[in-house]
Amino acid sequence: MPLSATSNRNPDHRNPGRPDSDKENCQPGQAKPNFVFRCIGCNLLSSTAPQDFRCSQCNNLLEITDPCWNSSSLNATALKSLWRERRCSNAVLDLSGVWRFRELLPTPESEQQIVTLREGNTPLYELPLSSRITGVSRLYAKHQGMNPTGSFKDAGMTVAATFARQARSRWVACASTGNTSASMAAYAARGGMRSLVLVPEGKISWSKLSQALDYGALTCQLRTDFDGCLRLLQELVRRAPVYQLNSINPFRLEGQKTLAIELLEQFDWQPPDHIIVPGGNLGNSSAIGKALLEMLEIGLIPRLPKLSVIQAEGANALVRTLREAEGKRLVNVQAETRATAIRIGNPASWEKAVKVIQATGGVCEQVSEVEIAQAKAEIGAEGIGCEPASAVTLAGLKKLLQQRFVKRDETVVLVLTGNLLKDPDFTMEFHRGDLFPNTPHEREANSLDPLRHPPIILDATLDAVIQTLEQAESSQAEKSDPTGRDV
Ligand code: F0G
Repeated sequence: MPLSATSNRNPDHRNPGRPDSDKENCQPGQAKPNFVFRCIGCNLLSSTAPQDFRCSQCNNLLEITDPCWNSSSLNATALKSLWRERRCSNAVLDLSGVWRFRELLPTPESEQQIVTLREGNTPLYELPLSSRITGVSRLYAKHQGMNPTGSFKDAGMTVAATFARQARSRWVACASTGNTSASMAAYAARGGMRSLVLVPEGKISWSKLSQALDYGALTCQLRTDFDGCLRLLQELVRRAPVYQLNSINPFRLEGQKTLAIELLEQFDWQPPDHIIVPGGNLGNSSAIGKALLEMLEIGLIPRLPKLSVIQAEGANALVRTLREAEGKRLVNVQAETRATAIRIGNPASWEKAVKVIQATGGVCEQVSEVEIAQAKAEIGAEGIGCEPASAVTLAGLKKLLQQRFVKRDETVVLVLTGNLLKDPDFTMEFHRGDLFPNTPHEREANSLDPLRHPPIILDATLDAVIQTLEQAESSQAEKSDPTGRDV
């Protein structure tokens, strides 16, 4: 069964920011859908999508577009004040940092279908220590790890799970490096659907896996990598009645757009110069880029920030695609990195990502395992922390500064995609000094010693604790912490 895109326009949702003339063209009574699918390859428009969310004509990915939407049909000033007003509302949809921006999202047939966990509403933090390290005085982190299941996936999942429920799906499914599965399982549970998770055996963190189990997913650990899981899922959705919730599903990217919308609202609609985001399967960068382009078109922002994507050296398909093939064909790789969330060698949304990087004037860069570990410890020392995949942003920023692509007097936002608690093994191994021994990175990793804070095992006596405290105090004077502050 094709998945229907037909949906009535709800006037309360869609029209406040639109001039009256446009309302006539897009009224709910006319039973027009408020979105259609468009193929990113051949531009074919369709009101329904096949189960695998690929173009029936050329097999490329689909994106969502609004046939009633053009730049003059939404009033930027009205939208800004409407969205601000909703921050004082206790209505369920207004409490979601995704559905608060529903004018720029596909609208389901009924609000009752919406599956929400109050996602979004994530903080924008200043990063004083990282500012000192990098010399970038206006440096911020948009922390998507503060979402209900601890990662940016929730923003997209609320929208895609809503449309899965509207399509009366009994089963939803995804392949995942961990965060998608945690998020999908949670939203499926809230929406009364069953979830099937395909994850690479031994290659995802226990904390992500445990989330999926607790939220009731049927969890299959496959003896392959993420790319193998995704390949299998794509075949599965053609054979079995399961609704696929990977970021190939364009509803996911619509929800993830709100990260950028909320970010710009937090900047009072004055765009930063750079937004830096980790790249794995490349759905998130594609979604942020789509949002930026739409906001420019509507007039919500006067200019585009440059969107740059950072990958791990061992999972650098997009870097190589841009360097070796000028973004024209995918150069896939056999992925290997301890930042397991982005251990992806064959990214599905590479074409979408190439388009938005080029449209915004951004770049793609890669960072080493040691650079990732260092940046993660530095973000931890800020008192906020993140998972390894998110830390590529700070490591990448340092490279982009060296290349003078980013200037120290510019405003920079790092998108932190996952919570520190998502990968405790990495953190423990780092602080205990167990992350790099017997690896090719061992020597380079010695420079990280001042950032390590291993636990100390002591006899349970007051003397032992006081002595340890005094030692820490006296070594403080000698030790110069690379973060530039007292330890
Ligand atoms: N950061 C984290 C914490 C992630 O979990 C992911 C992707 C990314 C960055 C990369 O985002 O794929 O949109 O480019 N995680 C997926 C998953 C693949 O299955 O959880 P992307």
